[in-house]
Amino acid sequence: MEGSDGRSHSYRALERCHCLPFWMGEEMPWTKSTEAQWETEELCEKLYSSHASIHPRHLKRKSLVRFMLRGFDSLPSSYSSLDSSHPWLCFWILNGLRILGEKIPDSVAKKTISILRACQDPSGGFTGGPGQVSHLAATYAACMALSCVGTEEALSLIDKKGVRTFLYQMRRSSGAFTMNLDGEEDTRAVYCAVSVAVLLNIPLRPLFDLSPFWLADCQTYEGGFGAVPGCEAHGGYTYCALAALYLLEKPMLCDLRSLVRWLSARQTRYEGGFQGRTNKLVDSCYSFWQGAAFPLVQQALSTDPDSVHVPMNSWLFDKVLLRQYVLLCCQNADGICDKPGKGSDYYHTCYALGGLSIAHHEFLFDEYNDELADDDLNILEKLHPAFNLTLDAFDTARSFFLPSSDVS
Ligand code: FPP
Ligand code: ZN
Repeated sequence: MEGSDGRSHSYRALERCHCLPFWMGEEMPWTKSTEAQWETEELCEKLYSSHASIHPRHLKRKSLVRFMLRGFDSLPSSYSSLDSSHPWLCFWILNGLRILGEKIPDSVAKKTISILRACQDPSGGFTGGPGQVSHLAATYAACMALSCVGTEEALSLIDKKGVRTFLYQMRRSSGAFTMNLDGEEDTRAVYCAVSVAVLLNIPLRPLFDLSPFWLADCQTYEGGFGAVPGCEAHGGYTYCALAALYLLEKPMLCDLRSLVRWLSARQTRYEGGFQGRTNKLVDSCYSFWQGAAFPLVQQALSTDPDSVHVPMNSWLFDKVLLRQYVLLCCQNADGICDKPGKGSDYYHTCYALGGLSIAHHEFLFDEYNDELADDDLNILEKLHPAFNLTLDAFDTARSFFLPSSDVS
């Protein structure tokens, strides 16, 4: 008997589950985590064993677009905790629309510009909301959101000189960066600083001279990267460290082979999506954080003369399983959620779509693999894996900031 994913139930039953009663000959303790894993697999199993006509194998494009655009009209009260994330909300919605290939309506472009103008700090950088302090994550999200709009009016809102001053203020002598003045330092901060600097064509030297070494120190014995040296490997911090190393052209400073092994092992074998760290639950946002690391690490491995042959036309994860997880287990009527049974939100919708796009386009540069496209409904715009911008949006913004005549 076949499930909606085209695989037999017995195949999936065999794959299930991490919570085997015995592990290396020892009886496994039944903990809250084992129970949560078991419940998640059960929810996925129900969806996988239902017939395709009940659970779609395609993106619900129209309702996704409606959901995204609604975010610019009004947000439910549950979003009040994101009051310091105004630029993020703009970015998640606009990037989701761009990945879906939608044109940004003029009214939405205008609203974005007015929201982000109110988040501009006169001393440089963007804040998470009016009256707040400049923050690297807010600066990254604002620059990427304005790149998604892509008009001259939007891009000229970015004060390149002010951003450069702010980046220098966040730099530590170790090569690390802090998220805000006297704030925490972690790989996110370095990534936000590097990606913004590259996009705006701000010179990377001497700003990032020591950063590659600090980033390499964040790699753990598992192969992934922690937030700072000595912390647990995590998909979000790993993406940030790797993308920053890639943009600084120093990925070979880390152990690429243990990294690619760690990344591949993060795809959950029954559910099909990625988890963020060892023994944690599957979550659709890691479709991007883990998924987008593959093109970056594979490109680095393919140029390493000591490395075994690594394909550049096929990412080293199971793209079909990933797509099934997002499409069958995480699509609600109004957006994409983290895992079955959860409500949708803009963050998960944006990053799940990003992961699907990466899975869909297996060639880093020109070519396009349509093996996965059942029909036009699943086709997504191609993303630049190190910026999380569509190639169109990236090219427009990058050309806007060339040459670097105003900042030396
Ligand atoms: C753990 O959450 C996750 C974090 C503490 C943050 C992870 C970092 C990112 C997603 C990267 C952010 C990137 C930028 C560009 C700012 P959890 O313990 O709730 O989740 P888990 O169980 O899946 O680990
Ligand atoms: Zn998540």
